[in-house]
Amino acid sequence: MKELFTIDTKDYNPDGHVFVRPSARAIIERDGKVLVMYSQKYRYYKFPGGGIEAGETPQQALVREVREESGYTVLPETIEEFGSVLRRNRDAKDPDGIFEQQNYYYFCDIGEERVPITQEAYEIEEGFTPVWVDCLFSLTRANRESLRRGGGDPALIEREMRVFDLADNAVRARWFTKKENAAIAALGDDDYAGMLAYVKEVLERQQTEGESGVGVHKLEFGYSRFEHTKRVLGWSKRLYDATPDKTGLRYEDLMIATIFHDVGRSVSIATGEPHAKAGVPITREYLLAHGYPQERVDYICELVGAHSDKWRMTEPDLDRTLLMLMEADYLDDMGALGIVMDTLIVRARKEDATFYDCYNHYSRYTVPMQKESPMVTPEGKALWDEKTEIAERFSKAVLRDISLFE
Ligand SMILES: [Fe+2]
Ligand SMILES: [Fe+2]
Repeated sequence: MKELFTIDTKDYNPDGHVFVRPSARAIIERDGKVLVMYSQKYRYYKFPGGGIEAGETPQQALVREVREESGYTVLPETIEEFGSVLRRNRDAKDPDGIFEQQNYYYFCDIGEERVPITQEAYEIEEGFTPVWVDCLFSLTRANRESLRRGGGDPALIEREMRVFDLADNAVRARWFTKKENAAIAALGDDDYAGMLAYVKEVLERQQTEGESGVGVHKLEFGYSRFEHTKRVLGWSKRLYDATPDKTGLRYEDLMIATIFHDVGRSVSIATGEPHAKAGVPITREYLLAHGYPQERVDYICELVGAHSDKWRMTEPDLDRTLLMLMEADYLDDMGALGIVMDTLIVRARKEDATFYDCYNHYSRYTVPMQKESPMVTPEGKALWDEKTEIAERFSKAVLRDISLFE
């Protein structure tokens, strides 16, 4: 397991007897909240968990400890390593001894079942209560203040405080991935996840070879073509759901074409070929290898190959599925995301960029560009207008915040 850090108080006789007591600790996230134990006596937080008993695996100890302390049931198949923290200090029970504790932290999920809490005497004495919190990082303050007041076990309170900070990003990333995977599963076909994994691999393979299919955007920030693909998939789904008249719309083919629409970015940089055209053979090969019928493969490849021809959007007889893909592709990077993206661009172009530089860019570029709507369908227009309104309101709010006159 990855070592996070060591807490060594060096307050012991280095030749003393070493008392080893490993422990397992759980980082449990559910619906964006994290389960922690609050000490009512010393007013700090810690993860549920405790000592690994003889004959127990860390995973078994984790399940048992979480159950005893909080009443929640860990699902063993969800246990995943996060990292370990080594603690060495003078043994409180033996002044000549060394207390050495390897703390193993695991991510895990819990099931529906709840059992009565059966805490140990010292836990009841400290008033440990399970609580669900929004943000781990915000707990570091409580632990810091508890350390200042004193009374509790300082090495434990400090250790948990530092792990809150380290685990915070990972917890959020796990939450996002879980929600995203559920959303992908809800698109209706088990094949989509595999296709996405394939497209990701193709785009990233290219990146490692030095062509930026993923990675550094032409405007020099971390722009991932694969993340764009997933976002466009979201817009394709939203557009489809929002459209009452589904005549001529081929939902499954729209989903697949969206997944593959930019896969050609992986080769077009090297060959100079337009990326939409470059994506066609990659898409064709994958779909034929996975048993898709020729007619569908041809149609999906047509969508992929034509998705860049945005000038065709106003053609009266344009295929509705192709039009939807084009609108979805346009909807990404606009609105709130457009503001974030343009802020990154301003900063990338000018290292000492100021608030004014950002405002200047929003008002002169972001908002006017948003106002030129390329949308054709009423549903596309409605989503675009919503995004335009967000960008315009935000730009005006920034002006108010930076000026004396608004
Ligand atoms: Fe594209
Ligand atoms: Fe795209």
